[in-house]
Amino acid sequence: MASADKNLSEGTAPGFEGTLPSPETIRHLLRAVIDPELGDNIVDLGMVGDISVSPEGLIRIGVKLTIKGCPLRAQIKKDIESRVKTHPLITKVSIDWGEMTPEERTAVMTRARWNAKEQAPATQVPINARVLAIASGKGGVGKSSVTVNLAAALAAQGNTVGVLDADIWGFSIPRMLGMPDRLQAEKVDGHEKPMIIPNERVLGNGVLKVVSTGMLVEDEGTALMWRGLMLTKAVEQFLHDVHWGHLDYLLIDMPPGTGDVQMGLARMLPRTDLIIVTTPAVSAQKVAIRAADMAQRSFLRVAGVIENMTSFECDHGNSYALFGTGGGTTLANEIGAELLGQIPIEATVSLGGDTGEPVALHNTGKAAIEFHNIARKLIAQTIAQSEMSGCSARIEEVAVPVAVRSRTETSS
Ligand SMILES: Nc1ncnc2c1ncn2[C@@H]1O[C@H](COP(=O)(O)OP(=O)(O)O)[C@@H](O)[C@H]1O
Ligand SMILES: [Mg+2]
Repeated sequence: MASADKNLSEGTAPGFEGTLPSPETIRHLLRAVIDPELGDNIVDLGMVGDISVSPEGLIRIGVKLTIKGCPLRAQIKKDIESRVKTHPLITKVSIDWGEMTPEERTAVMTRARWNAKEQAPATQVPINARVLAIASGKGGVGKSSVTVNLAAALAAQGNTVGVLDADIWGFSIPRMLGMPDRLQAEKVDGHEKPMIIPNERVLGNGVLKVVSTGMLVEDEGTALMWRGLMLTKAVEQFLHDVHWGHLDYLLIDMPPGTGDVQMGLARMLPRTDLIIVTTPAVSAQKVAIRAADMAQRSFLRVAGVIENMTSFECDHGNSYALFGTGGGTTLANEIGAELLGQIPIEATVSLGGDTGEPVALHNTGKAAIEFHNIARKLIAQTIAQSEMSGCSARIEEVAVPVAVRSRTETSS
């Protein structure tokens, strides 16, 4: 584990230089697989046993479930595979399923409860929040526009949505969401030093909770002063020192390019999924592939591709593909991800960005409708990921009786 951590913190993808990852690296990657019911990753819950890596690229992983027939098994399998299989040299992932002994189950439950109640999480981002980073190879393709509109659409559909502006030097989120106020710090129970309180904006039944360096500095010009600041350090601070409270989603507006911040996120929040934004132009799509490639290297999962500026429709209803066609589909196919949607070029999108009222909130045009469609797809993905029907009684029916039994045994 120490070696994997070291690799990550030094900014190189673990085991990606043409060599197979070590069992320790695999174990580190599996920390991104969360058991949604027990609220912790499967490694720290003690569910992962032996890991072996054959020279042919076959990975065998031993996984112990709390009960053998748990329906979460399919989900855990899928999550393990999607985390591990991204490495080009890995040919097959095979899981040896096992069942925990009553003692092991008790230990897991103790840990799960401890996590839930007493232990402060490594970041302040709640474990059940879906983390989505909006990335692209380069600037100007619409990352920030996509971030604010998806955030607005998700919130309008009743969710609590955090927005972290990770474009430290080129922040635009405060303006685009009409939230220019300076951030305040407050003393929060259970924390020694004051925590940053995100600025909030209520949207229907939902709420936005937003942080940006733009809410720390005087004006966009002062942001230049931040150049001396390590990019990853700033993002790390936002993950550690912001009191997010409850969140359904955390959307991270990534800076242009790849590299530092993405590696930092992979280390700090390995469950982050990337949404890759591209324009239909071949050049943009080629650059976006680099972002996807970096995602693979840092073992981040890609939740899907969004093609922005797909076409422009004039008042007569004619459609013009100003930036070419096909970039989104080609990219999605190439990286094996879903094309989540295609946003047309509409003046209302940029106008919404300038006035702080994202088009997804107030407009029934094609762009707004598409943003809502994408939000619905993301919600469906998220529900599918944490589906645990039939398994919800696991704690009471299986684990708690074991825990109670062992307590009774000790006390009697
Ligand atoms: N679908 C769109 N239609 C019209 N203008 C758009 C669209 N998407 C983005 N823009 C405009 O393009 C510019 C760049 O978008 P932005 O979201 O800031 O990109 P990035 O964050 O990738 O640098 C902005 O002026 C924005 O208003
Ligand atoms: Mg931007």
